[in-house]
Amino acid sequence: MLIDTFGRVATDLRVSLTDRCNLRCTYCMPEEGLQWLAKPDLLTDDEIVRLIGIAVTELGITDVRFTGGEPLLRPGLVSIVDRVAALEPRPKMSLTTNGIGLQRTARALADAGLDRVNVSLDTLRPDVFQAMTRRKRHGDVLDGLAAARDAGLTPVKVNSVLMPGLNDDEAPDLLAWAVENEYELRFIEQMPLDAQHGWKREGMITAGDILASLRTRFDLTPEGDDARGSAPAERWIVDGGPARVGVIASVTRPFCAACDRTRLTADGQIRTCLFAQEESDLRGALRSGAADEEIAGLWKRAMWGKKAGSGLDDPSFLQPQRPMSAIGG
Ligand code: 5AD
Ligand code: SF4
Repeated sequence: MLIDTFGRVATDLRVSLTDRCNLRCTYCMPEEGLQWLAKPDLLTDDEIVRLIGIAVTELGITDVRFTGGEPLLRPGLVSIVDRVAALEPRPKMSLTTNGIGLQRTARALADAGLDRVNVSLDTLRPDVFQAMTRRKRHGDVLDGLAAARDAGLTPVKVNSVLMPGLNDDEAPDLLAWAVENEYELRFIEQMPLDAQHGWKREGMITAGDILASLRTRFDLTPEGDDARGSAPAERWIVDGGPARVGVIASVTRPFCAACDRTRLTADGQIRTCLFAQEESDLRGALRSGAADEEIAGLWKRAMWGKKAGSGLDDPSFLQPQRPMSAIGG
């Protein structure tokens, strides 16, 4: 098991398949993009499948989430999903994507064994989409979402980040649209993970703001902690159900005490937390011929060092070196 000194057990593995992306969301990347990881530093498909295999068979991982950057940019994605689906015990598999290209690949991903997707979409307005992502791809995302639903990658979840002055007036519209299209909407508070280090606590739209805005149009009933488990989203029943809406309040209502995550970066580093300052290298061990048990041991040792919380509220908080696009959501 991947247990830490606070007794938490990690069962959910987030695997970043690439740090590249075809959007430039302002809360994530600068306009010109970033210095991407060099190809030889990236784990190969075989290395990724081997590490996921170790996690599933020796370390108690039950859920695998593929992330990026944008994971659909990884050429081997469908085959990785296919190979992970063959592991025993078979983990549940989901994908966090910006949706661009999903229209083409949703069916193949579902056939390969992917269970679900989370698609990022912050606005229903094409002009606001362009302002927030610096790309004209709004229609592609909507098409990708519909294709995911039609391919049975359900429940399709939509992640939205609200930014002041851009889309902070859109929460009720987004929820009405999600309910109508049978997507499960989740708002994520903006976190200090942008490469430009531009995050400011004062400016951010909080969970409180989001709920107040939603309640101008919807009746929200808390779903309660039993249903939540270790999920970061707090959920509300919308207008008596069955629709739900979630809010991930990483900043104002952190859920670190229930965290069940471990993360693997595209270059083979274990991260115990989005906000961790340290990483543990597995790639070096892999490439120097380490046996599975040895790699499992390194992974366990890394998780044993997991901190109690994100440290966001400490005056000494430092943003991690890696931006969100190189950590994985
Ligand atoms: N704060 C909150 N959410 C973010 N995401 C990316 N950067 C940030 C940030 N700084 C979201 C994306 C995507 C998921 C991986 O995380 O919109 O939905
Ligand atoms: Fe790309 Fe996601 Fe970052 Fe947007 S938030 S630039 S979609 S990695």
